[in-house]
Amino acid sequence: MKAKITINKENIIGSIDRRIYGSFIEHLGRAVYNGIYEPSHKMADNMGFRKDVLELINQLNVPVVRYPGGNFVSGYNWEDGIGDKSKRPKKLELAWLSLETNEIGIDEFQEWAKRAGTDVMMAVNLGTRGPDEARNCIEYCNSETDTYYANLRRSNGFEKPFGIKLWCLGNEMDGDWQICHKTAEEYGRAATETAKVLKWVDPSIELVACGSSDPNMPSFGSWERTVLDHTYEYVDYLSLHCYYGNRANNTLDFLARAEDMDKFIKTTAEICDEIKVKKNSKKTVNLSFDEWNVWYRTKDEEKTMERWQIAPHLLEEKYNFEDALLVGCMLMTLQNNCDRVKIACLAQLVNVIAPIMTETGGKAWKQAIFYPYMYASLYGNGTTLRAKTESNTYSSKENWEIPYLYTSVIDNKEKGEIVVFAVNRSLTDDMELELDGFEGCTLKEHIELYSDDLKAVNSKEEEKISPIKRECDQKLPISLKKHSWNMLIFKY
Ligand code: AHR
Repeated sequence: MKAKITINKENIIGSIDRRIYGSFIEHLGRAVYNGIYEPSHKMADNMGFRKDVLELINQLNVPVVRYPGGNFVSGYNWEDGIGDKSKRPKKLELAWLSLETNEIGIDEFQEWAKRAGTDVMMAVNLGTRGPDEARNCIEYCNSETDTYYANLRRSNGFEKPFGIKLWCLGNEMDGDWQICHKTAEEYGRAATETAKVLKWVDPSIELVACGSSDPNMPSFGSWERTVLDHTYEYVDYLSLHCYYGNRANNTLDFLARAEDMDKFIKTTAEICDEIKVKKNSKKTVNLSFDEWNVWYRTKDEEKTMERWQIAPHLLEEKYNFEDALLVGCMLMTLQNNCDRVKIACLAQLVNVIAPIMTETGGKAWKQAIFYPYMYASLYGNGTTLRAKTESNTYSSKENWEIPYLYTSVIDNKEKGEIVVFAVNRSLTDDMELELDGFEGCTLKEHIELYSDDLKAVNSKEEEKISPIKRECDQKLPISLKKHSWNMLIFKY
């Protein structure tokens, strides 16, 4: 099969905000306890954080990590997780029906974030709580004043403020599974008042309001309009969440979900602009895609799992090779929408629907999705070019014409590099790739992720899915194997 990518270096979509390569750690299952934190592990550091896990996270160069939830945050009292550990309360955690020891809270998490070389994106509880607790929390985290909560932080050993710059106004408040779910009107009002007090305490922060937790929510569209009607002038970003799965075991349909994600982003951006026009506003509300991934095998596990366990094995999705292909495509979708998506979080980072898995007391390893995420974060920096792609197409469930070639092209002027990310979605045919507009560019590296077996998974025993560096033959066209993910680096 033949395919072609045409670029013009002047024709750009926008600059990539590195925060689109963010991730997420929730107090859920073994993400925190027996994930990033395991004081009895032989690799634990002086605070009980696993150094082998930090080393894998460092390889991903994650710019920002959302915390502490997720559904968890809607029942969370942040004060339970500060100060003397021996006095912290053990509580019933209602989002995941687990037991929360509060051994880790914001005091420790912001220390972990420094070790992981990342920033914290903090979510406040707009489920069981509201503006009062949120304003106290931001005073504790960010204030230098001689006042109660700032002094409480000092007395807990943190003289300097944590300086958290990005705050989420609750989580998935459109979903009835949320602890104290709200109507769009109720949420819009609560988010507005919370936004006001947060910015009064620290005007330098940025705020994310909750959009839809899935594009198939019946309220998608009306939720955004009502929430933005209230919050438009007070927030900086609107969130989107989406998880895809291959329940029907139809790989071509599954890989076409990248187009659905694109449509979700574009529709949400249009709604933001519609409200901008309606309000005659000068400001633009951008997007924070702060939960995205493949997730279907381990959904709703908490309903059947024994209740009130500490760090149960929840949502430990085992990612296979076709999941890595879709994750690679979804990253390209984010890059291709970098004019509007400024933040995105792969949900999540460790053990819970995650690129990194750990064995309690044992090894840490990379799941198949680790690699497309790592390469996007390391090489997908600069400006996205508006590339034209030509290839044969197929019909997916929605009957769209889906091109076999899925791609993004990034111009990194600082490094003098054009990076092409490309997935050949054909399950049968290799692809001969022709390039146009690449004059003066020399192909330096071709990294390929491929497996004959779409269902192959990595495990602690064996890494079946790992990238290879292919020989760089200067003679074009380049060959992209059937169902493969590729990264081509051109120097100019
Ligand atoms: O990431 C897992 C869960 O998915 C989050 O807690 C929630 O926000 C979403 O429904």
